[in-house]
Amino acid sequence: MIQIAVLGYGTVGSGVVEVIDTNHDSIAQKAGDEINIKYVLDLRDFPGDAIQEKIVHDFDVILNDPEIRIVVEVMGGVEPAYTFSKKALLAGKSVCTSNKELVARHGAELMEIAREREINYLFEASCGGGIPIIRPLNSSLTADQIDEITGILNGTTNYILTKMMQEGLDFEEVLKDAQEKGYAERNPEADVEGYDACRKIAILSSLAYGRQVDFEDIYTEGITKITAEDMKYAKVMNKTIKLLALSKNKDGKYYAMVAPHLLGQSDPLYPVNGVFNAIFLHGNMLGDAMFYGSGAGKLPTASAVAGDVVDAARHLKRSIMAFWSREKLELTDIGSAERRFFIRIQGILEKELEKVQKAFGPVEVLQVPELNQEFGCITRAMTEAEYKTKAADFENLLSMIRVR
Ligand code: HSE
Repeated sequence: MIQIAVLGYGTVGSGVVEVIDTNHDSIAQKAGDEINIKYVLDLRDFPGDAIQEKIVHDFDVILNDPEIRIVVEVMGGVEPAYTFSKKALLAGKSVCTSNKELVARHGAELMEIAREREINYLFEASCGGGIPIIRPLNSSLTADQIDEITGILNGTTNYILTKMMQEGLDFEEVLKDAQEKGYAERNPEADVEGYDACRKIAILSSLAYGRQVDFEDIYTEGITKITAEDMKYAKVMNKTIKLLALSKNKDGKYYAMVAPHLLGQSDPLYPVNGVFNAIFLHGNMLGDAMFYGSGAGKLPTASAVAGDVVDAARHLKRSIMAFWSREKLELTDIGSAERRFFIRIQGILEKELEKVQKAFGPVEVLQVPELNQEFGCITRAMTEAEYKTKAADFENLLSMIRVR
């Protein structure tokens, strides 16, 4: 029997307990041994709940119990999760986590400790919820040089954008509704400002490119400025708006960003709606691949964590993670990235078009019948830096969205 401990009995922690209880027998078969949850660490008590007999409030009980071989860290946040994870690894216990903040910040160090001790630090659930993406990057796509990762990596914002698109509602209205239904956090900042997606693309990029991508270096824009009017133009163009987290390797120069983009119907990420996530990859040998599925939520996330527990149980004395070096990968400024830009201009088309063309060059003009005091344009392809210079001199700009 392999004894494990779960740190945190919140949404994901209770999900891990549920997954391991529900699929107990098949998990035992796949792990090669029975998995038993011996302790659950939480500040709270759960009187009347079967979990109560496993609840401990002191991490040292877990740390000092030699029977515990695997620790599941699903507390979230950097501290005390970092201290607990490091102590567990140093004590020779493998750690499985869904904690993207921690992996993005200290993943390289924790993997290194695991590697030195021939145990594992596994984090499949940190990106894309239940979608297998860390394991494919770690073990299937190792013969490829990945030159692009583009993902819809945040379920909350994808749910909001999908609702805005389908129901013509404004950001604030949909956010309120999503909060009431429990789809969005009471404090939604990390999701709607793009910080959550930023940490996830930092993890995926570090793993794919083999060096530490610091999330602080990633240009990040959220979805709070996207309006119902933007969505109307997207509809006219047969496009949709998605928050994309992406990184690219162009001739050895890497850049990464998180920002809303307009996507056409032929884009593989176009039909990814609601809380679903998807990750599109391009490898120099593989070509294109896409991973799609439940990107958030209790059981999908817990399923990925429990899958890591099975893997850790199968490899109690062997490190299976490729690792990324702690050496920093310097990202280039996004200024040199080239794309087309969709812009909304305030004013009457006939009066303003010449001025727009003078500033931005030839543009494709778009109009939404009920928005008669403004019009939209798609510019030719230009660099971010060029766009920024042109836009700075232009007064009637209502909004800008990048076109993928
Ligand atoms: N808040 C995250 C999301 C949860 O909405 O995708 C999963 O990481």
